[in-house]
Amino acid sequence: MNYERFGDISNSDFFEEYLGKIYTWREGVGLHEMIREMHSFTVEVGEEDRHTYIEELSLMTPYRFRKSYENEQFRYSLLEIDQLSPGFIIRSRKNPEKSPVRAMNSLSPVSMKKPNTRYIGEVYRVTDFEKVTQILEKSGVEFDPDSVSAHSRIRFCRTSPSQYTWNTVAYIQYQGKERQYYLEQFPELNEPEGVLVRFDEIKKKQSELGIDSLIKPIDHLATRVLHQDREHAILEHLKLTSYYYWGSYDIADQNSSTNVTRNSLNLDESVSPARVFTAANTPHYLDHIVQLPSPTESFVLHYGKRMHHIAYGVADNAEGQTHDNIDIVVDTLKDQGMEFLLKVIGSAEEGLKQIFSRTSNYSLLITEYVQRYNGFQGFFTKKNVAFLTEAAGQDEALQKMNRVGEKDLCD
Ligand SMILES: [Fe+2]
Repeated sequence: MNYERFGDISNSDFFEEYLGKIYTWREGVGLHEMIREMHSFTVEVGEEDRHTYIEELSLMTPYRFRKSYENEQFRYSLLEIDQLSPGFIIRSRKNPEKSPVRAMNSLSPVSMKKPNTRYIGEVYRVTDFEKVTQILEKSGVEFDPDSVSAHSRIRFCRTSPSQYTWNTVAYIQYQGKERQYYLEQFPELNEPEGVLVRFDEIKKKQSELGIDSLIKPIDHLATRVLHQDREHAILEHLKLTSYYYWGSYDIADQNSSTNVTRNSLNLDESVSPARVFTAANTPHYLDHIVQLPSPTESFVLHYGKRMHHIAYGVADNAEGQTHDNIDIVVDTLKDQGMEFLLKVIGSAEEGLKQIFSRTSNYSLLITEYVQRYNGFQGFFTKKNVAFLTEAAGQDEALQKMNRVGEKDLCD
């Protein structure tokens, strides 16, 4: 498989050798054909945050609440944009004290403050569930036994969390063209009338503010991993999906790299967003020698391995428009009390403008907005990513100051 390579980072011989072998393997066993676009993704939150998180997303993103469901373990809320873009599933656990999410979050000083909150992973649509899961099992992939619903009309299963990212990958197959979700097999959960009215009001407000048509579907999702896990996280993702390695950029003065994988189906990012992995160039124990800020490694040490941000596209300006759409979106959201890290960076001349929001109190995820000008094809600019990495580092430092007392950690 010959994919055009971008970026300025040379990978290890190990990476290049096994990248080729993974492409050949997945092509040979048919996985490349059978695993299709990103169908949906799941974020777990505490039940006390489920409604407020939906409210936040209703204002900040194109997602709209559709329905809630429940089973013995979870309450689920489904948000959608349309039939093309991935569905957004928010779930809360009915017995969080038994949660594996809690166990993972208890290992990191900031995430232990939000013990029930974690991005869980993406779901990819497959064309032959039995074959895909058989091939993957045979290749050593472990599935969460609780997640397998192989005999219902919607087939679904989820891998155990990755050692490198702590994210999961799930697979779904269903009949018919219309999108279906595994949670639709559970009884519907009737939300209180007042809650539904509030969701509607916020969507209406987003429209009245004029930003609903400016915020587009997801562009990419970015996970932060430890320095030593960079190549393994990328290769593992390529084994489990039909994505390809697009390339890596060195953000030297932030001691970080941005590593991009994209769908190989020639689908727009709005249908199957890019998956990005960010890692420090050197491990934490060398910070005193390297003498550079190291926000990426620092994030992982404080929050644990996890998804860092979800980026949404912003519509390009209309002809002759001088006030950029991304500035309109950000200024409008600021007026509504939303906070952002530093300012909008980049320019129309460079092809791209971007900004990070503050970390959500409900999901611990940052929302990024990205506006591309005149069909900019470069995906991102190195200068912008350097600024964003720095901005996220400042937010992380703030969170660190507010975290569970240092004394507790030393006891
Ligand atoms: Fe990003």
